[in-house]
Amino acid sequence: MSSSAELAPPVPAAAELPRLLAGALADRPLSLTEHFERYGPVRQSAGRSRGEELIELAAAAGLTGRGGAGFATARKLRAVADARAHARPVVVANGVEGEPVSDKDKALLRHAPHIVLDGVALAAEAVGARTAIVALADSASHELAAVRAALAERERRNVDQIQIEVARVPDWFVAGEETAIVHALNGGPAAPTFTPPRPFERGVGGAPTLVQNVETLAHLALIARFGPEWFRAVGTAAEPGSALVTVSGAVSRPGVYEVPLGLPLADLLSWANGPSEPLSAFLIGGYFGTWIAAEQALRLRLIDAELASSGASLGARAIVALPRSACGLVESAHVIRYLADESAGQCGPCVYGLEAIAGAFEQLAGGGRDASVGPAQLKRWLGQVKGRGACRHPDGAAHLVESALRVFGAEVELHARGGCSGTRRAPLPIGKAR
Ligand SMILES: Cc1cc2nc3c(=O)[nH]c(=O)nc-3n(C[C@H](O)[C@H](O)[C@H](O)COP(=O)(O)O)c2cc1C
Ligand code: SF4
Repeated sequence: MSSSAELAPPVPAAAELPRLLAGALADRPLSLTEHFERYGPVRQSAGRSRGEELIELAAAAGLTGRGGAGFATARKLRAVADARAHARPVVVANGVEGEPVSDKDKALLRHAPHIVLDGVALAAEAVGARTAIVALADSASHELAAVRAALAERERRNVDQIQIEVARVPDWFVAGEETAIVHALNGGPAAPTFTPPRPFERGVGGAPTLVQNVETLAHLALIARFGPEWFRAVGTAAEPGSALVTVSGAVSRPGVYEVPLGLPLADLLSWANGPSEPLSAFLIGGYFGTWIAAEQALRLRLIDAELASSGASLGARAIVALPRSACGLVESAHVIRYLADESAGQCGPCVYGLEAIAGAFEQLAGGGRDASVGPAQLKRWLGQVKGRGACRHPDGAAHLVESALRVFGAEVELHARGGCSGTRRAPLPIGKAR
């Protein structure tokens, strides 16, 4: 990556947020000139192998993946870099964001494509790749335009030493799973494949492949510039840094917020100008996430170590505030049906199990008289689908069902007597029908 001729601007105050979306404009992406004015060029390595240095920086920063699983980025970089003895690695920037209640990756790509592309180029340097692919969903037309324009600017100014392409995958919930992207890039459907081999062993074109979420790559670009201590100035020692979080549902100002990890959920709710009406629960972590009763959730901080006490994790970093006027059981039934329909249709427990679970849950939500399957039987079925798919889709869906049964238990009983406390539907979006 070129260091550009511009003078480096001062290092941004470490505790200042936002970091990734700093200076984002409402109506257009930051240009390359604006991007370099804000962040300066990438710091050059002092002697030792540049790739090794980048991996060490990611490790010292404690950077973890922002795509859902929270895997240590340095370990993944190391695994792909080590596999380069067999073949030249490929980097895939995962900007698919199939999660319907998440907009953080798309917001980053729309507003600040260069910070992602810096991260792509650096990750390629770290693992020894000469090719990188930015994967986007078919419907992401604004993001596609932003990335294409940014790539053209970088080419004109000869910024990158690697080839960066853009690829599109269908708008399926599971299309952003890493083996699904690799499968699609290899000419197959965007459906997960059985592992091993994992992408880092054999991925795009059979080469070792690093699949990294676009936000993770953007953090890498800032760590390479400003160092691990700067990154660690926010967050906690065990879960350092900041993260983009999408807030939706019954809040006055829904949107994407960059939070220091460990921020109390109550503070994030204030950033979103508070609830727009009384709340009953929060869904934490998107549609693979966990319902938590509002009172309990508002005592928690946004770090996995604390959320775990309520069976939750940050997951896809999407948070939905459920208004009291909506029925959590009905809303969950709607989402569980969507997840069952989004099964890639290749593993029995996922295809038949999720279908049966969605049907039984719909009966619970629709009114008890027809419900032939009670919560106890439903829980047994959940145990039978978990860990039984090629990907974690059934596990994620089962997790949501379990938390819905726990948090909306009183509603299950009310529905069994023909009642429902909801007076209107909540804005829980689902993707396009497949
Ligand atoms: C069903 C399913 C869907 C997923 N969708 C996405 C997605 O849209 N975007 C994403 O970054 N990761 C997604 N993931 C996680 C990826 O498989 C992978 O772990 C991630 O891209 C790795 O990047 P990271 O380490 O930077 O988080 C999904 C996982 C599963 C099981
Ligand atoms: S577990 Fe479900 S979504 Fe995942 S590959 Fe199998 S059928 Fe597809």
